[in-house]
Amino acid sequence: MKTGCIILAGGAGKRMKSERPKVLCEVLKKPMIGWVLDAAEAFGFDTTGVVTGFRRELTEEYVASRGGNISLFFQPEQKGTGDAVKQAVELIKSVDRVCVLCGDAPFIDEETLRGAFKYHEENHAKATVISAEISCPAGYGRIIRDGGIFKAIREQKDCSPEELEICEVNSGAYWFDSGALLDALPRLTDNNAGGEFYLTDCVEIIGENSPVCAYKSKREQIVLGANSRKALLELNETARLMVIDKLLDDGVSFISTDGIIISPEVKIGCDTTILPNTVILGKTVIGKSCEIGANSHIENCVIGDNVVLNNVQAYSATVENNVKIGPFAQLRPGTIIRRGVKIGDFVEIKNSDIGENTAVAHLTYLGDSDVGRGVNFGCGCVTANYDGINKYRTEIGSHAFIGCNTNLIAPVKIGENATTAAGSTITKEVPPNSLAVERGQMKVIENWQKNFERKKK
Ligand code: UD1
Ligand code: CA
Repeated sequence: MKTGCIILAGGAGKRMKSERPKVLCEVLKKPMIGWVLDAAEAFGFDTTGVVTGFRRELTEEYVASRGGNISLFFQPEQKGTGDAVKQAVELIKSVDRVCVLCGDAPFIDEETLRGAFKYHEENHAKATVISAEISCPAGYGRIIRDGGIFKAIREQKDCSPEELEICEVNSGAYWFDSGALLDALPRLTDNNAGGEFYLTDCVEIIGENSPVCAYKSKREQIVLGANSRKALLELNETARLMVIDKLLDDGVSFISTDGIIISPEVKIGCDTTILPNTVILGKTVIGKSCEIGANSHIENCVIGDNVVLNNVQAYSATVENNVKIGPFAQLRPGTIIRRGVKIGDFVEIKNSDIGENTAVAHLTYLGDSDVGRGVNFGCGCVTANYDGINKYRTEIGSHAFIGCNTNLIAPVKIGENATTAAGSTITKEVPPNSLAVERGQMKVIENWQKNFERKKK
């Protein structure tokens, strides 16, 4: 049996007051539609499509940036969720069962989709709506039952005062038999309080002649959607706590969760502690027994075990075991920090490989550099890697000693065990075991102050 998925993403999101499509509004720095696409990918549909509309180019650009084989459909006018599904008739025709999802309800998950699919098949239903009971049902379509038997979905605007009291709501996710959905779509009208073609009415239309049902999920967050910035903030907070909850189960410690934001894809080993105001994003992996934070921002990094990152910004960098970095250090993309390295305050490292047990203690910039083992950088060293046109690499052999305030003008090579004298500007290769001094001779002028005072008089 072939299954397809249609994700509705055409709405403008007027209530969000955004110039971008609502589905691109982010929860934990990931567009809401990204969460929904992740759930669809985890389910493994035979085909998945996205219906775009308002500022389609932005939604299309995001979908393309994720890769994968996603079909795109376009809804020229935002005339409602039913009208949106109509645009994907070709997809519906190509499969036996269709799952429709809302691009603005990010917490739908694989488990719920599977549970609902099984329920749909076991009940020989032609349409199954996924619902859940929530404490604040305002804004959602209500699930109308009669003696426990599912009857219809009623939009908030069309509800009677009694129906408004119902707490079981429509998640906006459904399973349909393709044939039944294709028959029902042309019968939709916009004869309702919203003046739109409601997809929810398809369930009622199909129900006239065939069995339809509601699959009630125990996970209430699966229904949560965001139509406004306030709701988006609430989704972010829900997601933030969901991720932290899972990490606690994995053996990660938090002294306080204040200001801690971690993407759902992030993996963290046991006995690691995350300190306040730390943001960990993307596909970051952190090992065991680390201390990350306070005030750190880690994005798409691979961090080993026993690593301390205190007030560190790190982007697309790799840090091996037993490394200590910070405070106030930045690792930029392409950086590898090998075992046992120590990096101190006000150090920036870009696209460089820093060998085992090297120390870069203070006020230093290393860019496009290959540094060996056990190298010591004094305070204030700089690799001048850019001449305004091209970038060049600096190579430093193991156990070299780079004196304070050394400028290394790339391309340049420092041999193993070599030393550069403090304040030197190194433009030529320094052979192994040698000392390079590049300074003017120091002159001492005796009694200079006395002469100066005399002249002034
Ligand atoms: C919809 C449901 C409601 C449910 C809620 C769950 C309908 C009529 N109502 O209401 O029962 O409780 O979702 O979150 O379906 N969209 C389009 N084209 C359109 C209109 C919407 O693509 O013309 C997309 C939106 O971008 C959004 C999704 O469909 O991703 C849902 O639309 P929205 O307007 O947010 O519906 P709700 O009012 O939230
Ligand atoms: Ca919505």
